[in-house]
Amino acid sequence: MLMNQTPLGMAREYERKAAAEIPASSRPLIHLTPMTGWMNDPNGFCFYKGEYHMFYQYYPYNTVWGPMHWGHATSRDLLHWTYQSAALAPDSSADAGGCFSGTALPLEDGRLLLLYTGVQPAATGHRELQAQCVAFGDGVDFVKAEQNPVIGADLLPEGYSAFDFRDPKVFRGEDGMLRCVAGNRHAQRQGSILLFESEDGLRWRFVSELLASDGEYGRMWECPDLYRVDGEDVLIVSPQEMQASADGKFHAGYGTVAFLGAFDGKTFSPRTAQPVDDGLDFYAPQSTLSPDGRRIMIGWMENWETVNGAVRRHKWFGRMSLPREVTIQNGTLCQRPVWEIETMWQDDVRLSGVPLCGEASFPEISGRSLDMTVTLHVNEDSACRRFEMRFAQDERCFTVIRCALSRGELVFDRTNCGSHRDIPHVRRIHVQPTAGQLTLRLILDKDCAELFVGNGEHVISALIDTPLSAHGVSFCSDGPLTMDIEKHRIG
Ligand code: FRU
Repeated sequence: MLMNQTPLGMAREYERKAAAEIPASSRPLIHLTPMTGWMNDPNGFCFYKGEYHMFYQYYPYNTVWGPMHWGHATSRDLLHWTYQSAALAPDSSADAGGCFSGTALPLEDGRLLLLYTGVQPAATGHRELQAQCVAFGDGVDFVKAEQNPVIGADLLPEGYSAFDFRDPKVFRGEDGMLRCVAGNRHAQRQGSILLFESEDGLRWRFVSELLASDGEYGRMWECPDLYRVDGEDVLIVSPQEMQASADGKFHAGYGTVAFLGAFDGKTFSPRTAQPVDDGLDFYAPQSTLSPDGRRIMIGWMENWETVNGAVRRHKWFGRMSLPREVTIQNGTLCQRPVWEIETMWQDDVRLSGVPLCGEASFPEISGRSLDMTVTLHVNEDSACRRFEMRFAQDERCFTVIRCALSRGELVFDRTNCGSHRDIPHVRRIHVQPTAGQLTLRLILDKDCAELFVGNGEHVISALIDTPLSAHGVSFCSDGPLTMDIEKHRIG
């Protein structure tokens, strides 16, 4: 068959033509969007041949989810991305129902290994099956292994599902062995993460169940990630159908959980669990190491629960979050935007010791492409109990960050952002000022808002359906406080 008649060849030709018609101005500045059509999870995030590679769940032909391909983009700074041709299409018996999420690993012989979930459509005698497949390539073209699927239901002990078995994260152990963790749904324990190992990427063995939900953290665990950072082992999962926790720490539905603890090569003993992102639009994050040793994480900045009703304004739909550097501070997973963003700062404004009592706005503080840090100085006997910051504001629209300082609560509320939809718009977290200071760093890239609180122990990511002409920022307090504001246009 000629290349342009294969599913991958057709996708590559289609995306090239379709993308040429999409104006760059319709896209956010530093959030990766699909070349054309639909995007969900980040896949195969890695540093290979001098560049970052990001693959993604992709349906080029429409702005809704469809038979999954892998889209592909590369970047030197994690912020400016160059589209590459689609990397995988559902075109073999092992993945005819879709090439679902997975990861990439540069091999010592120079090839790039992709490990992904192949979906086999339902057939006589079985429902749709999910199993793990490999492909080897040079960063542009990939050849699927004839042995696919290489991790199938035959390797699963009793009780695990052949239908909910996906999203392998591959890594090399210190002993040189290839390992991978994948999500599964156990008949009793529900969401679970399974560990496999292999010498060559083709022949795999089941090692153990790393951790399971036991009903507490959702019914199916998707998109695991496992790494060590700052002396702590971190297991990240994206649970489906999670119940909200009574203490308000975890919200209901699709979420992200970071388990911090110890991985002994077989099992994972969690010391604590926290949401990766407390926002409304964040799921399925994936991480890689930068050449200078930073652990960098990117998530899908949408929400399965609300995505179908979202207005399609462009010939593309879906985006990635900002790349964030992950660290552990005081036993907590913290995130901050990668420093590369500072190379894009323009029109710097710094206001120090600004007194606030009542409402205020500042002519030089506004915009829809901004990186703004507001530090509140609150002393204990201050009469100020409430602080508010509004952004993407005009006469009709705004999104607000409301801090009940006396109660140690922060509310992110996009109810008035301009949305016409009756969907969740509010998230609430607990935060306390440290040594009389509370830092709020907001990165706004058109309709993508990401708020980093304190040292980044909380991040709130949300899309705001607000006209781009609404670019006001204003502040309000019910008593005296002082603030420092540092604002940069991103350009
Ligand atoms: C998570 C997910 C994965 C799956 C992919 C399919 O968002 O459901 O579990 O591999 O999306 O597109």
